[in-house]
Amino acid sequence: MDQSIGLNKIKTAVFISGTGSNLKSLIKFSNSKYSPIFIELIVSNNQKAKGLKYGLINNIKKKIINFKNKKKSENKLLLELKKNKIQLICLAGFMKILSKNFIKNFEGKILNIHPSLLPKYKGLNTHKRALENKEKYSGCTVHFVTTKLDSGKIILQKKVKILKKDNVNSLAKKILAEEHKLYPKAILKVFSL
Ligand code: GRF
Repeated sequence: MDQSIGLNKIKTAVFISGTGSNLKSLIKFSNSKYSPIFIELIVSNNQKAKGLKYGLINNIKKKIINFKNKKKSENKLLLELKKNKIQLICLAGFMKILSKNFIKNFEGKILNIHPSLLPKYKGLNTHKRALENKEKYSGCTVHFVTTKLDSGKIILQKKVKILKKDNVNSLAKKILAEEHKLYPKAILKVFSL
């Protein structure tokens, strides 16, 4: 890729733990001229994360941090982020909870995507809980990360209808497809050029 493309854009790190389909969509978005962000670094707590392949394909640096010792891991990570002059962090399926100290170092500069219509269903197993509660709608939310889990200011949400025939897998699939569109839209909303 032409390295000059990223020069004036916000240097971003995307944190993942698994499949990385949101990372894939963010990379595609960041490569467009409309994107205010440039993905400089991919961080994963899991060296087997499938999503790491998107870093390889797109020639993006990666950093694996195992988080076994949270404090040490976060300090190492903070150094790496500083070294790369990272200005924005996008959590995309990142399964570790960041400490207050870490978040304070990037106050107002960490975004997350969550597969529910927050404030409903914070935490894990969102689809299972929404189905058990016979919700008519679920969806996804992009929000700022604060020290309270899944509770920062909401940037954008997308509603998805739950059908009678839906199960955890079908609902997750429908919502994930919306997540891929919502994250870029939310970034544009916050940082339009
Ligand atoms: C997404 O549903 C995200 O909202 C949740 O974990 C899933 C990650 O998917 N936090 P992927 O790794 O981006 O494919």
